[in-house]
Amino acid sequence: MTCDLQPTEDAAIEYDGEDPLASFRERFSVPDELYLDGNSLGPSSDAAAAALDRAVDQWRELGIRAWTEAEPPWFEYGERLGDRVAPHIGADPHEVVAANSTTVNIHTLIGTFLDSQDGPPGILVDELDFPTDHYAIRAQFRQRGYDPDEHLTVVESRDGRTIAEADVIAAMDENEVGIVFLPSVLYRSGQLLDIEQITEAAHERGILAGFDLAHSVGVVPHELSAVGVDFAVWCHYKYLNAGPGAIGGLYVNERHHGTEPALAGWWGHEKATQFDMETTFTAAADAGAWQIGTVNVFSAAPLFGALDILDEAGIDAVRDGSLDRTGYLMALVDEHLSETEYSVGTPRAGERRGGHVAVEHPEAERISQALRDRGVVVDFRRPNVIRVCPAPLYIGLADVFEAVGHLSEIVDTRAYEAYSDGDAVR
Ligand SMILES: Cc1ncc(COP(=O)(O)O)c(C=O)c1O
Repeated sequence: MTCDLQPTEDAAIEYDGEDPLASFRERFSVPDELYLDGNSLGPSSDAAAAALDRAVDQWRELGIRAWTEAEPPWFEYGERLGDRVAPHIGADPHEVVAANSTTVNIHTLIGTFLDSQDGPPGILVDELDFPTDHYAIRAQFRQRGYDPDEHLTVVESRDGRTIAEADVIAAMDENEVGIVFLPSVLYRSGQLLDIEQITEAAHERGILAGFDLAHSVGVVPHELSAVGVDFAVWCHYKYLNAGPGAIGGLYVNERHHGTEPALAGWWGHEKATQFDMETTFTAAADAGAWQIGTVNVFSAAPLFGALDILDEAGIDAVRDGSLDRTGYLMALVDEHLSETEYSVGTPRAGERRGGHVAVEHPEAERISQALRDRGVVVDFRRPNVIRVCPAPLYIGLADVFEAVGHLSEIVDTRAYEAYSDGDAVR
């Protein structure tokens, strides 16, 4: 549903009354009055908690037999969860597995493709990336005896908020770059990069294209296989609401199946012979090969329940609902806060933004603390960004209207002056 969303309270009430996602709200436990931080940690749902309870019951009732006798068997958790996530990212089930964490998955996939590439051992990233991506890539360079400063190409931002695809493409020098590794959505500004354009340009130059989808999985649909993306990683604790530290996810395009994983471990062994306990590694024939050690059952189980909710809502409806909410939020900032120092740092066009909005203000840190004390949970990112995430499964337009009212009041009454910089919860 996308109606003509005027920046008024009436428009919010009307929209919420007809919102096809409204009924999902009661299935989440949202402890604070206004929880606008699902881009950091999604809230718990009855479905996710029940899935975790089931796994605990299986442990109690079946003990070790749960590895093979639970439904689904714990032994297959990574693959079965991969099957379930695949349609939401436009991938074939055997190209996806739930495993490890995002950072570990960056290590193993970057290492894998550094080893398998005939081309130059150079990687192209951007300066606005989430830091763990750079840390892991640099470590993988060092482990191979490459100087990271020499082999990392960092695309700079023109405005401190966004990355121009044209600049990414201009930096794709096939004599220096073998892999492009970029986020789908920039964690601070919320810009959505054009995955298709970047992948096509990379492939034209014989360069591989990999993406960190942490800020898009569960809120922005992807077409990874159709676009031909080479590999991707993500977490499930943001828009998928699978719980703190939930198991991560990875995608490896089928044309790379059979490539030797950089961080091999017995959980990536061919399943049928894993328990033969041969000391030579026979990798699984699909993305399962990039699993490493025993699946963390209790950090994986809630994802089954979380996916039940996403399946029921549908990723396209979630995306539509998200665009409506972020669009309405930006319109409210324009309409009601234009006389203040607030501004929007997120690209306006729907196809250029993910699931959160960067509201900028010179006093962002103190304002975000004042918001929390009013039960409005957002997060602060240096130097001046308040990230506001109206996740459509549990936040309505009336909530967005209320949150903007708080933003306005905190500045009008100078309530933020009661706080100090450096104390913001991140
Ligand atoms: C883009 C991005 N990549 C990676 C991570 C974190 O990775 P991990 O799940 O390994 O802590 C985050 C966390 O917010 C992130 O935003």
